[in-house]
Amino acid sequence: MIIRVWIRCLLSVCLAAVLLLGSPAIAQANPDSGVLAKAVQSIEELDSMRSGLASYLETDPEQPTAETMKKVCKPVGMKAQQLSQENGWQVKQISNKYRNPAHAPDGPASRKALARFERDAELMGFWQAETLGEQAGTRYYRRIDVEASCLACHGGRAGRPEFVKNNYPEDLAYNFKEGDLRGMYSVFMPEMQAALQDALTQS
Ligand code: HEC
Repeated sequence: MIIRVWIRCLLSVCLAAVLLLGSPAIAQANPDSGVLAKAVQSIEELDSMRSGLASYLETDPEQPTAETMKKVCKPVGMKAQQLSQENGWQVKQISNKYRNPAHAPDGPASRKALARFERDAELMGFWQAETLGEQAGTRYYRRIDVEASCLACHGGRAGRPEFVKNNYPEDLAYNFKEGDLRGMYSVFMPEMQAALQDALTQS
């Protein structure tokens, strides 16, 4: 299932409604549609959180300090972990040009997904059946694009803040331009867990 840019603004509201109310075709393709809708919405919130933090830093009249600088992308990673724990998912950020090595592609499926976003700038997100480890489930991918406010830390190599230069010696996440693909979010929802959750919400 593919999500294109033009429905981006409607994403969390309409998509969730369609999935929850159950268009028969979609419901059949995605038996765990309630869980999927929740994942889509959670990722929209996560992405807005980062954009909000980055643009606040940009427009804040106070000079950003080392501390405020750290409060943009690190909290996104922490929130992703929290979402994983709360829902039994695996929520990740993945990029070919990663800053934190934990965000490198984790296999052929995520490499392919990144290449797909790279090829098709209109592709906002998609999901597919996948097996991760031994576990069958659904995996949702959502693109992350570079905005002007990201360049303070992901622009030219020399212009990166000191804490980035010091803490990420193998950093690859620089030299981006506005509109470039920065990476993607990935949410793996195991089948069993989804089935259980559906059963619980229906009872
Ligand atoms: C104040 C500096 C700063 C700004 C501004 C910033 N980032 Fe980051 N970004 C970082 C740091 C530091 C990390 C590594 C965090 C970690 O260790 O998990 C990172 C990591 C990431 C990652 C995870 C993949 C990786 O490379 O490890 C993505 C995706 C990302 N940033 C996207 C963005 C986007 C999109 C924006 C603008 C909306 C942005 N960043 C703005 C500092 C920043």
